[in-house]
Amino acid sequence: MNDIFVSESVVKSQLDIADKLKTEENKKVCILTFGCQQNEADSEILSGICERAGYAETDNPKEADLILINTCAIREHAELKALSRTGQFKKLKEQNKGLLIGVCGCMAEQKERREALMKSYPYVDFVFGTDRLFMLPEIIKNAKTAKKRGVYISDLPHGEFGIIAEGLPLRRNSLHKAKVSIMYGCDNFCTYCVVPYVRGRERSRNSQAVLKEVEGLVLSGYKDIMLLGQNVNSYNGDISFPKLLEKAGSFDGEYFLRFMTSHPKDASSELVDVIRDVPNVAKQFHLPVQSGNNRVLSAMNRRYTREKYLEKALEIKSKVPGITMTTDIICGFPTETEEEFLETVDIIKQVEFDMIFTFLYSPRPGTPAAKMDDQIPHEEKVRRFELLSSVQNDIADKINESYVGKTVRVLCDSFENGMCSGRTSGNKIVNFTGSSKIGSFANVKITSSAAYTLKGEEI
Ligand code: 5AD
Ligand code: SF4
Repeated sequence: MNDIFVSESVVKSQLDIADKLKTEENKKVCILTFGCQQNEADSEILSGICERAGYAETDNPKEADLILINTCAIREHAELKALSRTGQFKKLKEQNKGLLIGVCGCMAEQKERREALMKSYPYVDFVFGTDRLFMLPEIIKNAKTAKKRGVYISDLPHGEFGIIAEGLPLRRNSLHKAKVSIMYGCDNFCTYCVVPYVRGRERSRNSQAVLKEVEGLVLSGYKDIMLLGQNVNSYNGDISFPKLLEKAGSFDGEYFLRFMTSHPKDASSELVDVIRDVPNVAKQFHLPVQSGNNRVLSAMNRRYTREKYLEKALEIKSKVPGITMTTDIICGFPTETEEEFLETVDIIKQVEFDMIFTFLYSPRPGTPAAKMDDQIPHEEKVRRFELLSSVQNDIADKINESYVGKTVRVLCDSFENGMCSGRTSGNKIVNFTGSSKIGSFANVKITSSAAYTLKGEEI
């Protein structure tokens, strides 16, 4: 178990390097983050390490001494966005030879992508992998003096283990919302997904470390805390995930405790009970179905059936009435026929999700699905996507209409010209008139609704 942790002395030696770097003044870092919440959480660590090394943060790459591009590889579109952004920094590097540019995140983990990137973007000074965040001080120090470009990648998928570094500094980008990673990596190998190859094998933080972090956040006034992992149900610390959630939701005070993401094959009844019974645990469940057809689910290696999924979704809805249910769907998985797709439309209608996140299937190099015959043409994927969206809009409209006249508890996220905007425990967006401060709770009476927002007034 201990093998998966970076030793305290290694972390300390990295922080010592950061402290030495701090002696140079007036430096700025610009961090660009693509992709999921895990990347956002990683970027907060990158930012925290940079702060320790004396870098203020800026959104403007033109005034930066260091640019870090934290990339995503989940779909081709995400990769292209990161590459096009990287391309824009060529001029900046020509104007400022001292500028350092580093690329990290999931794209950096893919050998072909990394090599192509280093070749096409010779002004990128270094790349580092998803488990090398803790080495950033050394990476920056080396980049300042090196003649050669730095490549800091371990062999993924991590052999047997990955690496977890505790005690790294964090610079959070909100004063009331926080993400807490509880585990890293994924062992599921869904046939379309690149995550197990770029984030390595599943490994979990100790529950004491997670709970200490959550308690610290609650004490410093954080009101919306998200426990993060690719598949939180297979959290494998010293206690089970439902127990961890229960404990993390039981600190004094009012806050929303969310989690992301669950795999339907592992979401247990015990977990649903915790959501129902612990008031601070948000009444929201994101349960990615991906497809409503058994043959496609099996080709995706999802390891549950349509029937099992429905059983679980309906259990959640009946045990926690009014819970917000959301899901992910892939449109146009290779070999998916029209009839099979229609079963996905049907499952959406049966469950009545509050929201669905729909993605066009994107072949990922090295994954089994990318090699399957019978890839679906782009236009057909788009047609399926649009059909699903229109079915879902009607469902969401109907669900949100049922909120009109009710009073909900809302955590205020922004306030401008007498209009506040915030989220409910179920993560619904509510725009309301009132005088709530950012990061405080309000009771809001809902006066009107649309498919994805509610409107109301503070009472
Ligand atoms: N193409 C399209 N969507 C994908 N996802 C994962 N891999 C792919 C892919 N290759 C989607 C899944 C997952 C979400 C985070 O991204 O729906 O749940
Ligand atoms: Fe990818 Fe499947 Fe793991 Fe989710 S559970 S990260 S979709 S391999």
